[in-house]
Amino acid sequence: MKKYLFGFLALTAALVSCSDKTVVKSPTSNLSISYKAKSALDLRVDSVMQLMTLKEKIGQMNQYNGFMDFTGPVPDQGDASAKYQDIRDGMVGSMLNVRGVKNVRAVQKVAVEESRLGIPLIFGFDVIHGYQTMGPIPLAEAASWDLEAIQEASRLAAKEAAVAGLNWTFAPNVDISRDARWGRVMEGAGEDPYLGSKIATARVNGFQGEDLADQFTIAACAKHFAAYGFAEAGRDYNTADVGTSTLYNIVLPPFKAAAEAGARTFMNSFNDLNGIPATANEFLLRDILKDQWDYNGFVVSDWGSIKEMIAHNYARDNKDAARLAVNAGSDMDMESYAYKSHLEELVKEGKVDEALIDDAARRILKVKFELGLFDDPYKYCNEQLEKTVTGSDEMMDGALDMALKSMVLLKNDKNILPLKKSGQKIAVLGDLAFDKNSVLGSWRIGAIDNTAVSLVEGFKSYKGNQVTFERGPRFVTEDVAFAMEVQYNETDTTGTAAALKAAKNADVVVMMLGEHGYQSGEGRSRTQLDLPGLQQEFLEQVQAVNEDVVLVVASGRPLVLSWADENVPAILEAWQLGNQSGNAIAQVLYGDYNPSGKLPMSFPVNVGQAPIYYNRKNTGRPVLPGKDVVFWSHYQDAPNDPLYVFGHGLSYTTFEYNDIKLLNDYSSNGKITVMATLKNTGDVAGTEIAQLYIQDEFASVIRPIRELKGFEKITLKPGESKQLSFTLDKDELGFYDNNGNWIVEDGTFNVWIGGSSKTQLGTNFLLIQ
Ligand code: NOJ
Repeated sequence: MKKYLFGFLALTAALVSCSDKTVVKSPTSNLSISYKAKSALDLRVDSVMQLMTLKEKIGQMNQYNGFMDFTGPVPDQGDASAKYQDIRDGMVGSMLNVRGVKNVRAVQKVAVEESRLGIPLIFGFDVIHGYQTMGPIPLAEAASWDLEAIQEASRLAAKEAAVAGLNWTFAPNVDISRDARWGRVMEGAGEDPYLGSKIATARVNGFQGEDLADQFTIAACAKHFAAYGFAEAGRDYNTADVGTSTLYNIVLPPFKAAAEAGARTFMNSFNDLNGIPATANEFLLRDILKDQWDYNGFVVSDWGSIKEMIAHNYARDNKDAARLAVNAGSDMDMESYAYKSHLEELVKEGKVDEALIDDAARRILKVKFELGLFDDPYKYCNEQLEKTVTGSDEMMDGALDMALKSMVLLKNDKNILPLKKSGQKIAVLGDLAFDKNSVLGSWRIGAIDNTAVSLVEGFKSYKGNQVTFERGPRFVTEDVAFAMEVQYNETDTTGTAAALKAAKNADVVVMMLGEHGYQSGEGRSRTQLDLPGLQQEFLEQVQAVNEDVVLVVASGRPLVLSWADENVPAILEAWQLGNQSGNAIAQVLYGDYNPSGKLPMSFPVNVGQAPIYYNRKNTGRPVLPGKDVVFWSHYQDAPNDPLYVFGHGLSYTTFEYNDIKLLNDYSSNGKITVMATLKNTGDVAGTEIAQLYIQDEFASVIRPIRELKGFEKITLKPGESKQLSFTLDKDELGFYDNNGNWIVEDGTFNVWIGGSSKTQLGTNFLLIQ
């Protein structure tokens, strides 16, 4: 069978090449040329390429949606049977949104057994924060600053996806964003490129593991390349206008980290960058990714992003779009039908070099080999494993662990938290407290609706208190589905009176308010960052009858919490935590888990501050020269600082940082070590995320007032201290100039260590190389 044909070819190829490098010596001179011999894997790819026609090579470059429409307009062409025929004809290299062993096997069978060469398909899916078992949304995970936990969460997501027949996730999203109006901030790691790069690496490692051919690993996809998170005004799909310094220093680093971690694929972004759609952006795809970074994976377009270049006013028609995209370096066409319909003709007309088709097909085949699909195309199709792994305790325990680590305690006056385990009268209020669906988050196509543990259910496992539960006014007017706009209840106050009565009788009120899970994510930008519907009014009504309110915020992005910050004693940011949401929140509220998350994005005072971020530049007018002078960089009606800064997050204990000092000077060994002591000064054990920031005071390209360059997560018992030590070298102390070169410049650096980006514990050093 074809499977065995490939096995044989692969074996022969492997025998041909055993070493990685060959040195050829000239017999007549001293000259020797060393070149990289083809790897065994490359030879295996060659062995397949040799058998392929131009058409079949182009076939590998097409990705079709499954037979349901999840993420965009239904393509003009093709019903299920036409798609099957294309697979038979060798015109499809990959499918997305076909999942579950039964479905994957059925479609794979057509490719393997009915197409001329039997090349297996690669099955992709958006496994963004879990496959069926939902963990916290990625922005929440990022708030843990816990790279091991994040890697583990990705490993579990990969495992559950792999046993559902999938080979490839369209994750991680490594888009840096500074604008909470953009709905897709929920999918990324926040505003900082250093944290974002570390998390990108952790996620790629988690998905791909050590061996892509392992039954439980899947290929990762760094997306959206590039600058998608800089959509103007936070409006999804909008133009991104990004200067070179920001592009090199903020946007690109997490992509580079993902490439270096070995992410096997990249995805284009929908936006244009400097007037050229990312999908046809040679500068991004060829110059940076494939040349400078020497990237050997493949690039998939985003959904229809090739075709959308017509609407961008860039390509004249779909054929023109195909030409532009392939020439720029986009290897696979997701749902534009542009490559399938036009590439062969474009090659024949001499408008596309056949070598580019070969290159794209080789890249795609290579990943299929790495996944082990040529050895066994049904490798990921094991019904028994699907049954035992999906939704298993391993998955649920992982989701709970990540959820616990993701919450951020924003405020805790009067030590109102943790709640007492007994003897308290507690009112748990808010429609979201009862909700089993919304907290599953936005990217959850494989999830089962209404399966999250609600906060009410989480509370019910604690028996010692007298707890009443009231919804208050309804949050949304009807159940929301994936492709629907969320409709809020703005008028019906039924439920308010009962909730107010419960609040009045309680010692403490716990209110869960915030956004619906489908209010953030793709296509879900907002111009307001408030508590939607009747929630703000409800919060104020409750606070008027009982000031001891603990506000639990469910959201996919930073919200404006200014009123709450002024008026309620405790605020816990609980994002959207997935299946274990209610259990995790209850454990934190009752103090069984001491919160340790820190914000990966600034929370603005009001929406007018957006975009807002900590690593900004000083400007020429950073300070107030005098009380009545207006001509400095500020707002008349709001402060420049956000409400909660990047890196902020409290604990049930307190920490103190002291004694910052430098261990050596840079010139001795190209490194400098910065130390400080951290002490748990409270009464309970707690975990702190210690952060290190630098500022390169004067540079040939202005540097931000602060940049995160190190962090460590440390657990300390009451009274315990630890010596913190961060080592900085050229990787942390340099920056990209406006030509994309990494440079380190001599001069003074300020350095701070502390519990947020606002820390004042600092010193400085002179860097002389
Ligand atoms: C569009 C999104 O932008 C992308 O992130 C996703 O992977 C694809 N749709 C496929 O669902």
